Amino acid sequence: MIVTLGLVGAVGANVWLTDLVYNDLPQAPLPPMDPIAGGLDSATCGGCHTQIHSAWKLSAHGRAHLDPLYLADFRDQGEPYVCEYCHTPLVEQRAQVVSGLWMAWPAFVPQTTANPRHDPALRTDGIGCVACHQRDGAMIGPFEAQGSPPHPTRKEALGVELCRPCHFLDLKVGSELPRPIQDTFGEWEEYRRLGGEKDCIECHMPRTEPVPVALGGPPRLGRDHRLKGPTDVNFLRSGLVVRAVEFGDQTATVTLYNGSGHRLPTAEPQRRVEVILEALDGRGAVIASASESLQRVILLPKLIESADTTLRPREERTLALHVTADSARSLRVRVVFHLWDPDHHVARAAGLREEALRVPVFSQTKALP
Ligand code: HEC
Ligand code: HEC
Ligand code: HEC
Ligand code: HEC
Ligand code: HEC
Repeated sequence: MIVTLGLVGAVGANVWLTDLVYNDLPQAPLPPMDPIAGGLDSATCGGCHTQIHSAWKLSAHGRAHLDPLYLADFRDQGEPYVCEYCHTPLVEQRAQVVSGLWMAWPAFVPQTTANPRHDPALRTDGIGCVACHQRDGAMIGPFEAQGSPPHPTRKEALGVELCRPCHFLDLKVGSELPRPIQDTFGEWEEYRRLGGEKDCIECHMPRTEPVPVALGGPPRLGRDHRLKGPTDVNFLRSGLVVRAVEFGDQTATVTLYNGSGHRLPTAEPQRRVEVILEALDGRGAVIASASESLQRVILLPKLIESADTTLRPREERTLALHVTADSARSLRVRVVFHLWDPDHHVARAAGLREEALRVPVFSQTKALP
């Protein structure tokens, strides 16, 4: 009897825990969709929206399901279904439908059924055109459509609310984080409170020259679908601004300013800004160095934040670095943006080398008297 009661109690607690965890995780972001322009794949759209399609294909959204780091991380974590809600957001992109969890701990076991709407060809589309543009049987966009589109259109501005569901994630169960694990949208709201005026789209999808947005259409001031990000060094420099560098005998002070619209770095916790002071000998070889990192460090699996030295929106910060090297002939300051630690097992599984994982932002050398 005691044993039976104990078992009922354990089953009850498991249902309670699995429901709690399931409801805390992201839900499928979009309803099922029927094609209204010949197909749900972005290549179909590319037949007429040629320039936008070629720009999108190169973007992080176009490559979201081809990105070696994502694929390596996804496999490393046992392919949890939730990743796909943001990285392959259409119902039709996913092989399984998930309706709950059988178990949340110690193993993570979702309740799945085969998805009758699944189209395997859509998987590599990543975040495709219809994920952002197809709503209630029409394509939404900023203009009154001209020409004869093969699909219904509706004039409706796409605002930052479009970006929020994927660029903000607040896990509460089992998390001891002081702020959401993925907080770009919340950080942007802080940027606005601090007087920042731009939105995600103005910075990341700046206006293009007037060009037809569909073959044969009138020239329009469209938006750059390449999506600017940290691998575009000029764009990165507009966010990671080196305002001043002052050298001493064995020291340097470096003043940074965050000109982006959120924290810097934001989102992916592997991102790191490194500020380095190096002492060089007469031949330019490094004989001593010191560095400081700006990064949010989150320890898994328990989700504990062990450090957060990211720059707040619009923050200016001065770092002081010191090296001891009496024979130094010059000092050099460098600022580097690291996408991922090359020694991390996920980066190694992705087959990416250090050069592909860092973006040099700044370098200045001063000869010593
Ligand atoms: C709430 C939406 C969301 C979910 C769920 C999600 N991601 Fe992401 N992921 C993003 C966004 C947005 C970015 C881009 C952030 C950035 O560039 O820093 C990203 C970036 C990444 C990156 C960095 C890619 C690169 O090139 O550096 C990896 C790796 C990644 N995600 C893996 C995963 C895995 C694995 C899961 C599931 C365990 C997952 N993501 C779940 C939204 C999500
Ligand atoms: C046969 C050609 C053709 C195909 C295929 C096509 N479109 Fe269009 N689309 C047009 C034309 C023409 C317009 C009107 C352009 C204009 O007004 O400048 C248009 C307008 C749009 C607009 C509205 C722009 C605005 O603000 O008015 C969106 C969004 C759009 N298409 C998305 C898509 C997507 C997504 C797909 C693929 C699923 C697609 N289109 C497939 C021809 C096409
Ligand atoms: C991450 C979301 C997102 C994706 C993916 C996306 N777009 Fe857009 N698109 C936008 C935004 C935002 C605008 C600008 C809306 C505004 O100005 O109100 C836009 C604008 C447009 C316009 C109007 C003309 C212009 O350039 O402003 C067309 C047409 C269009 N997109 C087609 C496409 C096609 C085709 C694809 C796929 C190849 C695509 N979009 C992928 C978000 C997206
Ligand atoms: C359906 C989910 C989804 C939506 C909607 C979405 N994003 Fe993303 N975004 C992602 C994911 C996932 C990544 C990371 C892909 C990767 O690198 O693996 C990403 C990456 C990015 C990046 C990084 C670019 C780079 O070069 O590294 C930027 C910037 C970005 N998104 C801006 C936006 C903006 C602005 C909007 C709204 C107009 C938006 N996103 C809407 C999921 C989304
Ligand atoms: C004032 C311009 C500005 C605004 C507004 C802005 N960003 Fe950014 N964003 C940047 C700059 C500059 C970078 C490159 C520096 C970096 O990666 O942190 C960046 C980087 C990113 C990245 C890539 C982070 C990484 O390291 O991979 C994502 C994702 C992103 N922004 C999403 C957004 C979203 C979503 C919004 C709106 C909620 C937004 N941004 C608003 C300027 C802006």
